[in-house]
Amino acid sequence: MTKNITKDIRYIGVDDPEMRLFESQYATPDGMCYNSYVILDEKVAILDTSDRRTLGAWKENLTEALGGRTPDYLIVQHLEPDHASGIADLCALYPTLQIVCSAKAQQMMPQYMMEGVAPIITVKEGDTLSLGSHVLRFIMAPMVHWPEVMVTYDEADRVLFSADGFGKFGVYDADADDWACEARRYYFNICGKYGTPVSTLLKKAAALDIQQILPLHGPVLEGEKLAEALRLYTIWSAYDVETEGVFIAHASIHGNTAAAAER
Ligand SMILES: [Fe+2]
Ligand SMILES: [Fe+2]
Repeated sequence: MTKNITKDIRYIGVDDPEMRLFESQYATPDGMCYNSYVILDEKVAILDTSDRRTLGAWKENLTEALGGRTPDYLIVQHLEPDHASGIADLCALYPTLQIVCSAKAQQMMPQYMMEGVAPIITVKEGDTLSLGSHVLRFIMAPMVHWPEVMVTYDEADRVLFSADGFGKFGVYDADADDWACEARRYYFNICGKYGTPVSTLLKKAAALDIQQILPLHGPVLEGEKLAEALRLYTIWSAYDVETEGVFIAHASIHGNTAAAAER
């Protein structure tokens, strides 16, 4: 599936409905999706690739979105293999492609056998890259899952590409009303330890005019859903209380301890 997010931004992500154990440890009964985006301007940029399991479908989506054009830049926001498995193939296919990433990502690339696959432009906090009418601004987001992570703000369309942040378990479900349930479980499993880095990113995001958030998992967020996601992320990253009350946990083999806990 490819679809337009804005006039120039195209979604080229892939669903993985058979995925049952994300990162070999998190139950994903509704599958998973790996999002990826293309910006078609005077220059063409691709934001992240895909998981190895879905590379074939991702390449088909990419080819369709490019419509015969040659991509200029591959923005690597996150080097984890669920988003980075297509990098070497893509660079081999388009030898003039340049990778844009953080210095930390460049430093980590040899660990993933990506040394020298393409020329690299390293960017730091606040650096910009002009594609023509779209100017991308890079915002470092270390430990908003891994140390090399950065997010990308497109000033023209006022969208934030948020990497793993604002992600969700499940296949791409743009119309789902209950974003919070699986986004909450995703957040606490993937980013929950990193509340302070997430808070830092939220403060940087608050200074931007954001109309849409485009994460690497889960649906694009806008309007009321975007406002609600920002509200919940503020609570979650601060380890604050979402629902007032007292939580009593229990385990019970024969039900007697459960009965006592209920009482
Ligand atoms: Fe990740
Ligand atoms: Fe991810």
